[in-house]
Amino acid sequence: MRYLLAILLSAAILGSLFTSCENTPQSTSSNTTPSAVPLDTSYFLKKGGEIAALSFQALSTELKQALQRGGVAEAVQYCQLKAYPIVDSLSHIHQARIRRTTLKVRNPKDTPDEVEANILKRMQQQKAQGLMPQPVVQRITPDTVLFAAPILTQPLCLKCHGTVGKEIDPNDYALIQKHYPNDQATGYKAGDLRGMWSIRIYSPSN
Ligand code: HEC
Repeated sequence: MRYLLAILLSAAILGSLFTSCENTPQSTSSNTTPSAVPLDTSYFLKKGGEIAALSFQALSTELKQALQRGGVAEAVQYCQLKAYPIVDSLSHIHQARIRRTTLKVRNPKDTPDEVEANILKRMQQQKAQGLMPQPVVQRITPDTVLFAAPILTQPLCLKCHGTVGKEIDPNDYALIQKHYPNDQATGYKAGDLRGMWSIRIYSPSN
């Protein structure tokens, strides 16, 4: 029964997170690496979408609980993907490299590469035009397909990514800065594009 509930819950979450995305998938495969096999965009949208949704679900559930338990000091470690065994398992199961990236980094290791920066800028433009940024599927090497999906800022995120002195307690921010002295990831409002999932899936094209 619990198992069934978990499946139903996951389906509901996946549905609510990604239905809007599936209507207008964007594929830029045709103007990148040529491939013998046409890129199955809807397959990668589904697979990437599932990986992102499950990772995000684990992260936001744990963040919420940790914030309630002990505030930012307790929760600060739970915005790292490496805190989540499920992210590790999903990487193995899907032969995928799962990361998040953004134009304003907290952890410098999340700095985007050129392909990621271009996608992020495009998502930012869509947001500025009042559109919902859409997931992207793109073959980036003969062996790798990139799935990218927007990460939007939720009210929950503002305690650590909002404005210092407003949503972020200055004492909490001092703690964040101790670990991330060059932090740029503040000043967000609910609904802003915070960054994106960047999921590289192993998939030989021939
Ligand atoms: C308790 C504080 C805290 C909360 C709440 C929080 N974050 Fe973070 N966030 C961090 C920290 C710390 C990092 C750096 C993680 C690392 O070192 O890998 C980070 C990193 C990120 C990154 C990776 C890019 C970067 O800047 O390095 C994204 C994307 C992100 N957070 C999104 C969110 C979203 C979306 C929410 C709300 C659902 C959220 N965060 C809530 C503290 C927080």
